[in-house]
Amino acid sequence: MRTNITYLGKVINVNSGNVEVEIAKEIPSAAPIINGRLYKIGQIGTFVKFPIGSLTLFGLVSSVSNSPSSIEATSYEPNYGSRFLQVQLIGEKLGNDEFKKGVGTYPTINDQVHIVTEEDLRSIYGDKSDGYIEIGKHSSSENLPVYIDTHNLVLRHSAILGSTGSGKSNTTANIIKRILNEYKGSRIILVDTHGEYSSAFSGNSKVFKINSIKHPLIIPFWTMTFDELSFFLVGRPEGQEQPADKRLREKIIELKKLNAAVLKAGAVDENFITADSPIPFDIKQLWHDFNREVTASYSVAKKEDQTRDTEELIDEGDAKELKPATFKPYGPGGQTPFKSKDQTMYSYEAKILSRLKDSRYQFMFDPPDYNDAKSANDIDHLFKSWIDHDYRLTILDLSGVPFELIDISVGLISRLVYDSMYWGRYEEYTGRKRPVLMVYEEAHSYLPKSERSSHIYGYARKAVEKIFKEGRKFGIGAMVVTQRPSEISETILAQVGTFIALRLTNSRDKGTVQSAAPNNMNSLIELLSSLRIGEAIVVGESINIPSRVRIELVEPRPSSNDPNLVDAWHKKFAINENGYKKVVKAIREQKPITKKE
Ligand SMILES: Nc1ncnc2c1ncn2[C@@H]1O[C@H](COP(=O)(O)OP(=O)(O)O)[C@@H](O)[C@H]1O
Ligand SMILES: [Mg+2]
Repeated sequence: MRTNITYLGKVINVNSGNVEVEIAKEIPSAAPIINGRLYKIGQIGTFVKFPIGSLTLFGLVSSVSNSPSSIEATSYEPNYGSRFLQVQLIGEKLGNDEFKKGVGTYPTINDQVHIVTEEDLRSIYGDKSDGYIEIGKHSSSENLPVYIDTHNLVLRHSAILGSTGSGKSNTTANIIKRILNEYKGSRIILVDTHGEYSSAFSGNSKVFKINSIKHPLIIPFWTMTFDELSFFLVGRPEGQEQPADKRLREKIIELKKLNAAVLKAGAVDENFITADSPIPFDIKQLWHDFNREVTASYSVAKKEDQTRDTEELIDEGDAKELKPATFKPYGPGGQTPFKSKDQTMYSYEAKILSRLKDSRYQFMFDPPDYNDAKSANDIDHLFKSWIDHDYRLTILDLSGVPFELIDISVGLISRLVYDSMYWGRYEEYTGRKRPVLMVYEEAHSYLPKSERSSHIYGYARKAVEKIFKEGRKFGIGAMVVTQRPSEISETILAQVGTFIALRLTNSRDKGTVQSAAPNNMNSLIELLSSLRIGEAIVVGESINIPSRVRIELVEPRPSSNDPNLVDAWHKKFAINENGYKKVVKAIREQKPITKKE
């Protein structure tokens, strides 16, 4: 075999999975040509093999030096000019069987070491069979496609990591495109915080966006738990239970119960209804009733006697229009009409009204067609529109969502989808029978490990962590995309099965990937800062062998969110007297100027 052109050298030390190899002196150049292809010897991240009878072990070159590092230099006399490779064993192949990760046998001293050729790699990556998608081409060989296992990619979760501009969005778009092309029953929801993706999938995705005429993004407030809702309505911290909170809770339960029998998705037993049940209720009526109680004047002074019968009502007002009821003004000192004695809801009433009037919150607090039980739709409709349509890809464009609502929005979306999969796990058309992939772009901005930022309360993190921990069993998988892996929830990273790591320069981020990535991939992770744009290290459960791949640029592309500065600054702008008027109106109404769709 020494005459074999792939011969490289011999084993000089074995230490569990780490093997040191001495390259034979007679290997003349660092780049032999085999079957017309140039191979580079001793490149970090390349593979070598150890043939042991009919078994072949495969390893990954992790470092190269000119003196042995595992053996005392005094006890070993290398031939002049020798080079030494540290190799991590990664898998084995018996005869013509398939390549398997992990090794059962180790090489011994003086075993031969060979170059891994393109043929070998082909047999490792396999042919494109059902259940695999191509992620890119092997970095060292332009025509060697690298396949990843779709099942593990989706259900064992994945992460796409890399510095800004390293090619994450392109990689994400690429993977989604391949899934859509390959699987006609696939379902993907992409949480797109910057509104980048509709350009890459125009015509083959359903894009939900705030203020969109075709598909307005709607997340009904009544899908919140009581803690969530009371926090966003009146700023009540979790756990606090003042008299006003108690009243709020009771009122919500009362209004939800009113709808128990008339729900569009089917009546529910009102005994099961709590303040947390995702049941529509008339929040404007809630405000109107509280307002009435606080502002009414009465013909009697005693608190117990102040009822609707003793009100000095002038006009009922209109809850729908947020128009309060009006009453005769209070009499001077001790005369009728008397001021309402019940001021418990005084501050909450005002806060609730300001929420209901804030047009930025409309998609949540006044969701058209979902605002109460008399509306056209219930959440079954929401589920269908999000995860059950012919495009298979749903883009939830959150770019118009107010900053302080991103966390709760992602939290509610994730929880709704999770719940639909959990409770529907044995249904024919969803759950385990029809998995869903959730993709979270720019995840560091709403899935942080700690809630340091002022508008992050952990709603999204809790819901997404649940998907990462339990989702697999109910057919829901997730992919996070981020430039700051060191800031992402550790629970999420710990559940990531496949890492697709693009160029990453920050050492804290690299350290995080290193400790989260499987079995000792340190040497590959070290390469992260030197990768080219669009090049990735792929390791984990959906790939047979850790690989360095080049990812193709997809067309049409996701749109970068930066404006084109140079073009803009080259132009001269003329502005007439109406300039900025629309802008000021938008600031005052807090209502974005609608962009042409
Ligand atoms: N695979 C690739 N091959 C060549 N160029 C790429 C590739 N991926 C990305 N790029 C280039 O880099 C730019 C930034 O890519 P993008 O995917 O938006 O990065 P990120 O999401 O990591 O910030 C793209 O506009 C494109 O010009
Ligand atoms: Mg991006």
